[in-house]
Amino acid sequence: MRVLSGIQPTGRFHWGNYFGAIRQYIALQEHDQAFYFIADLHALTTVRDANLLEEYTLEAAIDLLALGLNPDHATLFRQSDIPEVTELMWILLTATPMSLLEKCHAYKDKIAKGLPADAGLFSYPVLMAADILLYDSHIVPVGHDQVQHIEVTRDVAQKINLHYGDVLVLPEARVLDDAAKVPGVDGEKMSKSYGNVIEIFEAAKPMRKKIMSIKTDSQPVEAAKTPETCNVFQMYRLFSTSDEQIELAQRYRAGGMGYGEAKQLLYDAAWKYFEPARERREGLVKDKQTVRDILKTGAERARLKGQEVLDRVRSACGLGKKLV
Ligand code: ADP
Ligand code: TRP
Repeated sequence: MRVLSGIQPTGRFHWGNYFGAIRQYIALQEHDQAFYFIADLHALTTVRDANLLEEYTLEAAIDLLALGLNPDHATLFRQSDIPEVTELMWILLTATPMSLLEKCHAYKDKIAKGLPADAGLFSYPVLMAADILLYDSHIVPVGHDQVQHIEVTRDVAQKINLHYGDVLVLPEARVLDDAAKVPGVDGEKMSKSYGNVIEIFEAAKPMRKKIMSIKTDSQPVEAAKTPETCNVFQMYRLFSTSDEQIELAQRYRAGGMGYGEAKQLLYDAAWKYFEPARERREGLVKDKQTVRDILKTGAERARLKGQEVLDRVRSACGLGKKLV
């Protein structure tokens, strides 16, 4: 079984990205043949600064490796290193009804807000379909928000198969554990676009400052408090054992503990949790060449598979083998 997923390099990864996606990708690398890539072509629809995109892409690779992605188990590569993906995208576009893309939320939401949308954003789901279909992927772990795109992928693959015979493998979405939806410092879903994130590898001081700014109610220290509705407690749960959670919940209910103290406990737990990854990351930052080599080896491996599938599709639709 091939598991495949991509993550966009549109900023530094935050706690939501880790608990909602990255941690689960890493767990899957043990059992299946995993392909993970950094979706830099997709990121072009939002990051319009060359230096920044390059920086985010390399940082994404460094962070994934530091967090436990093992290049001996999983194939890690950069989307744009595989030119076959854009060629397959063109072929898929010729089998994609406009009406299918008009329904897709990223584009629809932008139009609804009266914002200008480009053809890149409009056809974004077809590039995603090419990402998936190019490697005969069976399972695609994604967040809820991406399930619609996997359905588009299946629809388009079915259209191609109908026209040209059974050429493409139909993938299935594996919806990531939604219990892991992480709130941001304002209590809304943590997301770069809301400016409420705590980055995984934030330096100690700004991380502490952000944690101290997490929104709580204004109960005084002595009041009994409700852990279930508290953002600080919800975040603490991510980093602690069930015994530690029970203990803190009891202290909330008993009263006598202020939110400042709970935030300090959260800070300590989060810092400790990512400590080994932070140490690995420091090593990788000093040795960027190793990271580039990992991406290169990954791309070579992925490309072999991609070329095989693209050849199959080209033959099926009458383009035949490439002459050069
Ligand atoms: P952002 O919303 O910050 O731009 P992305 O859309 O790039 O993040 O998300 C990348 C991955 O991380 C997706 O699989 C998404 O489901 C997951 N993710 C992002 N934010 C959260 C969150 N607050 N809780 C759980 N998962 C999240
Ligand atoms: N669109 C996905 C996201 O924003 C990233 C992505 C690009 C992806 N191509 C993919 C995910 C292929 C899974 C499979 O999260």
